[in-house]
Amino acid sequence: MLVSAKEMLQKAKAGHYAVGQFNINNLEWTKAILQTAQENNSPVILGVSEGAGKYMCGYKTVVGMVKGMLEEMGITVPVAIHLDHGSYDACLKCVEAGFSSIMYDGSHSPIEENVKNTKELVKICAEKGMSLEAEVGAIGGEEDGVIGAGECADPKECKAIADLGVDMLAAGIGNIHGKYPANWQGLSFETLDAIQQLTGELPLVLHGGTGIPDDMVKKAISLGVAKINVNTECQLSFAEATRKYIEEGKDQQGKGYDPRKLLLPGFEAIKETVKTKMELFGSIGKA
Ligand code: 13P
Repeated sequence: MLVSAKEMLQKAKAGHYAVGQFNINNLEWTKAILQTAQENNSPVILGVSEGAGKYMCGYKTVVGMVKGMLEEMGITVPVAIHLDHGSYDACLKCVEAGFSSIMYDGSHSPIEENVKNTKELVKICAEKGMSLEAEVGAIGGEEDGVIGAGECADPKECKAIADLGVDMLAAGIGNIHGKYPANWQGLSFETLDAIQQLTGELPLVLHGGTGIPDDMVKKAISLGVAKINVNTECQLSFAEATRKYIEEGKDQQGKGYDPRKLLLPGFEAIKETVKTKMELFGSIGKA
């Protein structure tokens, strides 16, 4: 069932668990995530970065693929198609293409510009029944060529953006995309707590979900995080399973070169990763 992320995140925040956003790259990725969500009766958010959207032949292709799968696979759990770290223009394109949710990432712009654009998008999303995520304080690491330093957001700026009427807020708390370096300082729970005290019921979003120790994830959820984004970890498990298949020479046995066989171990690996995250986030059985 294609829905906005608003209601599932409000329920998650009230119930002290988090819904996973898993980024998609192709058909196998999308099918693996949807199947896992359905099998575990969990709500789920499919994240689409601008780069992945281009790779999959544009946002309309993504919407067509996901809608087709929801119907053909008989998916009844709540599913949102969500633009990840969108520019203002990409947000408008996704509204038009039929996404159910968008993230406007104005964290690299001056706060005044972030406020102005977020305000416009609040209006548009309300008209369309879509949900909107905003960001304050750049998330570190590299994602689709955008490099951030892993800042901690200013809680007052978070409050200013929250008050515009967004449905969820990503705030930098020392988290970064991709693998965490050995000398990473960990999440700043002080910042998170200060933000949650000012933003109240608003679901908070934790980006860079790959490689954050389980106890930190649980603590973040207890401090108001209701959506956690995972991308790299699925890529790593897919690559590892695929490498193993090829290194064992399985593609050269029988019809092991058939893509439906070649991509199967990676597909299963994504399913396993997604299930493990859903267990950790507490979203199983919450559809
Ligand atoms: P990771 O790639 O570190 O899991 O981060 C994903 C993310 O935050 C997408 O917005």
